[in-house]
Amino acid sequence: MEKEVKRIGVLTSGGDAPGMNAAIRAVVRTAINRGFEVIGIKQGYSGLINGNMEKMTLRSVSDIMQHGGTMLYTARCLEFKEQAGVLKARDVCIENNIHGIVVIGGDGSFRGARDLSLAGIPCVGVPGTIDNDISSSEYTIGYDTAMNTVVECVDKLRDTSLSHARCSVVEVMGRHAGHIALNAGIACGATAILVPEIEYDVDRDIVAKMKKALETGKHHFIIVVAEGVGHVEELAKEIEAKTGVESRATVIGHIQRGGSPSLRDRVLASVMGNYAVDLLEKGIGNRVVVMKDNKVVDYDILEALNMKKTIDMDLMRIANEISI
Ligand code: ADP
Ligand code: F6P
Repeated sequence: MEKEVKRIGVLTSGGDAPGMNAAIRAVVRTAINRGFEVIGIKQGYSGLINGNMEKMTLRSVSDIMQHGGTMLYTARCLEFKEQAGVLKARDVCIENNIHGIVVIGGDGSFRGARDLSLAGIPCVGVPGTIDNDISSSEYTIGYDTAMNTVVECVDKLRDTSLSHARCSVVEVMGRHAGHIALNAGIACGATAILVPEIEYDVDRDIVAKMKKALETGKHHFIIVVAEGVGHVEELAKEIEAKTGVESRATVIGHIQRGGSPSLRDRVLASVMGNYAVDLLEKGIGNRVVVMKDNKVVDYDILEALNMKKTIDMDLMRIANEISI
């Protein structure tokens, strides 16, 4: 009797991140080379529910690694947050002989992966988001590229702000997390960095620092603000009124989500995608692949979701000490 070929699905969900393609490639190539069939599920959980999927070959993932975005597209799917949606997705998996799924996304996508695992389809999460806000993992796919994009943009802003002796108030992504702002802020020589995790006072944390710096001959400034803090237009006006330094606000926006992934993101994505298939091959689901102490390991999804990640206060201290 012919041996039944097992099938693995792969999908990307939530906000896209540079490096997701490298993760898809690693999943597809690893699984096919180990004797699985691989189904590419389009547009996250909504494609799963609607049966929007196609069989992948070794060649389907050629020439994708250097591109940002995700070749499988992504979506936010409200229906999947309901049990009925999860059961519909489970039935689609059964009909299509899909024995396990690699879910590349953030904490929201992992919640969905847990629900589907509990419904009987083993899922393994791979952390993909530029915000690095997945509590269980030190690094997420896309984070490094996004920070490098911020550095490139802010370096350009510095050219013009220096020429005009202005203050550039720059908003970077991170609705709930300031990891991009903190690290890119240090790398861009920001005078002040505002993140949603730490309360701030404009007079103390920006105006006083700028005045001190003006006294020592500094005449242009970069202030990096995480999206979760927001209000950069108002902040620029307030800074100008209180310091006399002409100020301009810039929101970098979705540019941070695109572009060719960095080496670090490509390698991380490749290793994690490969690891995820390892787990499914052993019949292990309901896990997330994460980076812990610079090593790739896996956790139970619920345990991972319950972990807490904090902003690096020591890095913030260093940023403050060297900012003027
Ligand atoms: P991310 O994965 O980047 O955190 P979202 O929070 O938008 O992004 O979640 C992506 C998708 O994961 C959602 O659109 C939904 O389909 C699914 N999802 C999110 N939260 C849950 C939940 N609590 N239960 C089931 N599915 C969820
Ligand atoms: O993927 C994370 C993120 O880029 C956040 O930093 C940002 O707040 C959010 O996604 C924006 O998402 P969208 O515009 O796609 O809804």
